[in-house]
Amino acid sequence: MRKDPSNNMTDLAGKTALITGSTSGIGKATAIALAARGAHVLVVGRNQQRAEHVLAEIEDGEGSATFRLTALADAASAQDLVDWATEAGHGHVDILVNNAGVALLGPTDTATEADFDETFGLNVKVPFFLVASLAPAMAERGWGSIVNVSTMVASFGQAGMAMYGASRAALELLTKAWAAEYGPRGVRVNAVAPGPTRTPMYERFGEMANQIAALAPAGRQGEPEELAAAIVFLASDDAAFIHGVTLPVDGGRVAT
Ligand SMILES: NC(=O)c1ccc[n+]([C@@H]2O[C@H](COP(=O)([O-])OP(=O)(O)OC[C@H]3O[C@@H](n4cnc5c(N)ncnc54)[C@H](OP(=O)(O)O)[C@@H]3O)[C@@H](O)[C@H]2O)c1
Repeated sequence: MRKDPSNNMTDLAGKTALITGSTSGIGKATAIALAARGAHVLVVGRNQQRAEHVLAEIEDGEGSATFRLTALADAASAQDLVDWATEAGHGHVDILVNNAGVALLGPTDTATEADFDETFGLNVKVPFFLVASLAPAMAERGWGSIVNVSTMVASFGQAGMAMYGASRAALELLTKAWAAEYGPRGVRVNAVAPGPTRTPMYERFGEMANQIAALAPAGRQGEPEELAAAIVFLASDDAAFIHGVTLPVDGGRVAT
């Protein structure tokens, strides 16, 4: 039965949400927004101070959260995280946001094999094994929601972003494949594809960030909270009839 949308402020109460890369940027804004909707949030990153700040912010808003410092890289690190999250979530993880990512940019001919492995390890392998471990239990309970964070450069060729864009294009195909695989058992899988968003990752690009942002109809960078709003929408029953989509949240860049 569809929930009454006017009564959705704590519609995620009783759900546990695991958000990778939630000590900063888009993941942090998503953790705060999911906690505000009542979810018990599991914050994951590598930096203790940033993790503590996110926790304090959630608790100040009377939300509930706990954190774990984890360097995600491969199937073993994904499984360690699942084991912790299942315990921290009192036996269940209902929402998974695959947000942590690495963007190593530059010419294809200067990339090393280690760069390639790091990119595909964090951006593809980790989400793959998190879903492999968490989706079956969600399906058994008959409700689950997975949101993958991609990028607009998974949709068009951009010089200097071949490796990064390809890794996210793989994640977008996985989004559709998992929707087909787990959707019939109550687990929805969707993705968002951000355009330039004002986070520490993007601020490293300096003036280039503004130049890229200026190419979209919105003509500006997005805010992490604008991405979080789309992720929370897809994660919640507000999007109950949406399976397997990648929602561009990019100021209109890929549409034009
Ligand atoms: N910002 C943009 O313009 C933009 C555009 C398109 C797509 N995206 C995608 O959006 C996602 C979030 O990006 P953001 O801009 O919010 O980045 P951000 O502010 O730099 O945050 C990245 C987060 O990921 C965590 N992280 C990074 N590598 C990790 C690893 N190996 N193991 C565990 N955690 C790790 C970081 O943890 P610590 O800080 O604690 O180490 C941090 O919480 C990424 O997947 C990115 O590719 C961003």
